[in-house]
Amino acid sequence: MPSLEFFAPCPRGLEAVFADELREIALQTPLTVGAVAPGGVYFTGEPATAMAVNLHSRIASRVLLKIARQSYHNENDVFAFTFEQPWEDWFTAQQTLRVDLTALKTANLRNSNFAALRVKDAICDRLRKMTGARPNIDTLTPDVRVFAFLDATHCTLYLDTTGEALFKRGWRLAKGAAPLRENLAAGILRLSGWTPAVPLYDPMCGSGTFVIEAAQIALGLAPGGERHFAFEKLQSYDRSAWPALKAAAFEARDAARRTRRELNIFGSDISGDMLVKAQANLERAGLHDLWLKQVDARVMAAPTETPGVIIANPPYGERVDVRGSAARARSQDRETHTMRQQRDELFHREQTDEAQEDFFRALGDTLKQKFTGWQAFVLTSDRGLPGQMRLCAAKRTPLFNGPIECRLFRFDLVKGSLRESRSNQK
Ligand SMILES: C[S@@+](CC[C@H](N)C(=O)[O-])C[C@H]1O[C@@H](n2cnc3c(N)ncnc32)[C@H](O)[C@@H]1O
Repeated sequence: MPSLEFFAPCPRGLEAVFADELREIALQTPLTVGAVAPGGVYFTGEPATAMAVNLHSRIASRVLLKIARQSYHNENDVFAFTFEQPWEDWFTAQQTLRVDLTALKTANLRNSNFAALRVKDAICDRLRKMTGARPNIDTLTPDVRVFAFLDATHCTLYLDTTGEALFKRGWRLAKGAAPLRENLAAGILRLSGWTPAVPLYDPMCGSGTFVIEAAQIALGLAPGGERHFAFEKLQSYDRSAWPALKAAAFEARDAARRTRRELNIFGSDISGDMLVKAQANLERAGLHDLWLKQVDARVMAAPTETPGVIIANPPYGERVDVRGSAARARSQDRETHTMRQQRDELFHREQTDEAQEDFFRALGDTLKQKFTGWQAFVLTSDRGLPGQMRLCAAKRTPLFNGPIECRLFRFDLVKGSLRESRSNQK
């Protein structure tokens, strides 16, 4: 059988660990890992390969099947090339469609929105010509998604095998204010080198993303075991391997439930509301006995004697001292509305900066005093964090949380990690 070509996007910064994860999946399924590109990895395999990656990858955002690639000069070429493809083999005009187009800055286009419309029109025209009907467009919950990717010289068309993005595992009902995407959390766990034998603690766990991902990894639960995928709706996709793949995932899940292994995974948060959300998510993810406590991270203690790994994404740019803010004393005499608004904003910003500085200094002190021997990984968009924590970062890894450029700082909490100079405030 000729090999199919796939591209799987992932959060930027995680490409190398995603390629490692694909190599692990390749031990169970025919899969050859190809080039690593910014924001994703190419691979080849059989129809079952995409099913296995959808089911088992914790880091991929989706899995795209390459339909065709050709050089182009303008939007008309893109239209003609898209129209030539036998879309009617893959889906019907009764199924709803969404088209996404990504064009590099170097792409030879006047307007990428216009190019996306041309791709959509070409697919609809093709289906009408071949079947007599045009599919409806549904941008929210389409049955079928087509992705077009354009660089300076070539247009590549992909058919999505995933559907809803893979970070949606199917367990999250209760969201925090700023939940981390599950695939970013899983990628950070892998970057940290954590393994289930080592204690893991998220002291600002929010809705529980890190602890749930870690617990599922420890129990060998497939991230996609509880959801559906777009390939299930494609007409000519060979799904013969799907029942066996799913059955193996269910068997692993049932075995994990029977043995009820004790996990070395701990989560806490200052907010009782967030812990209620985390608990609800844990239960929906099939995890029941995890250690979750209401604790202020500034005064936390190590949950185990054996040193382990701390992973957290602390709040940033908001009031962190949520339980003890100073009351405002102010006169409202003879102020215009705008003056009052400006003064309020300035006041809020100063209070936030001050509370943040106090919070991170206290957090750094607690890590130094109570977590000797641990490694802490902190994800933040604030590059001055090591300075605020008065800790030396042993490593800083650039990562993207959606469009936000972040750093994953690693702190090795051994004696002498106190930050002496200001050289690390990059
Ligand atoms: C950016 S959110 C973490 C999101 C989390 N990773 C998730 O996926 O839902 C930051 C969390 O820090 C918590 N937090 C704020 N101040 C805290 C403190 N002093 N001690 C512990 N947790 C705190 C907030 O309640 C919030 O849940």
